[in-house]
Amino acid sequence: VDDLAEELVAAIDALRPPVAGRRAVHSKGVCAAGTFQATPEAAALCRAAHLQGEPVAATVRFSNGAGGEPAHDGVRDGRGMATTFHLPDGTRTDIVALTLPVFFARTAEDFLDFTRARRPDPATGGPDPAVVGAYLAAHPEASAAVALALNTPPPASYAQLAYYGIHAFRLLDSTGHGRFVRYQWAPAAGEAKLADAEALARPPDYLEVELAERLAGGGLAFSLLFQLAADDDPTDDPTAAWPADRPVVLAGQLELSERVGPSPCERLVFDPTRVTDGIECSADPILRVRSAAYSISIGRRLAGG
Ligand code: HEM
Repeated sequence: VDDLAEELVAAIDALRPPVAGRRAVHSKGVCAAGTFQATPEAAALCRAAHLQGEPVAATVRFSNGAGGEPAHDGVRDGRGMATTFHLPDGTRTDIVALTLPVFFARTAEDFLDFTRARRPDPATGGPDPAVVGAYLAAHPEASAAVALALNTPPPASYAQLAYYGIHAFRLLDSTGHGRFVRYQWAPAAGEAKLADAEALARPPDYLEVELAERLAGGGLAFSLLFQLAADDDPTDDPTAAWPADRPVVLAGQLELSERVGPSPCERLVFDPTRVTDGIECSADPILRVRSAAYSISIGRRLAGG
């Protein structure tokens, strides 16, 4: 896995050159802190410490998906919401989510091939449409995520986006009975997008400015939702949505009220495989490779800084 992880990060680096001290992707972000409180329905499904109903502290980093030198917030891009729950025993557990409900690659090898296919052509500075088109023609499972990424206008606020954990995780209740779910964060303020021109006319860091104003003015909130799998729903394929009629359980409420400054924020580490007792990772190969790829970026950005 480690060689593959090195290749994944090298392919990401070839899209936009990495910047010292920053993440290989999601290089621009902003952090906030607050409290998460689970519902009784969550506690019934899962014995994990943060889901028992006692408030737990949480830290979140919102980000733009691109790596490299930070771009204008108004550029179309996937957005991230990485959450760490500070558990009573001093350990942590994370949910690392994107604005995409499904991913564009089913395996690490496909992620590598697609990332390489998007490498900028030195002649144009952009990806070669023929190379990208050939990849997509051979990988119809990528099209849902790619279409969403291209067609979604820029957000008005990090607090007005829905975020998805994408991978399935298996929740264990107090008797050890397991149930696969997918996480979703639904914004209390509702979703809001901007016209491209309007977003680009705002200051380059307008999402950070807007988040700071919101935190100063009373904060922001998200509901954590669990989409419950049926027995035959795929739990190892991040490109495959589950049918829309699957039950969705309100699992808790996240309230963010405090700013977290840039230097702790840039040094924070999130890992989608950092689960805790009561939560198990699925066999999804993308989930499995993420941890090793993140470690490379983490080692690099924390070195010497
Ligand atoms: C093979 C597939 C993937 C690769 C190779 C990959 C790679 C990376 C890397 C190298 C980082 C920087 C880590 C750091 O320095 O802390 C990162 C960050 C991030 N990734 Fe991924 N990623 C993949 C899939 C995903 C998926 C499926 C999601 C969402 C479900 C996701 C969401 C995020 C988010 C939100 C961040 C920023 C976390 C933060 O703010 O610290 N990634 N990714």
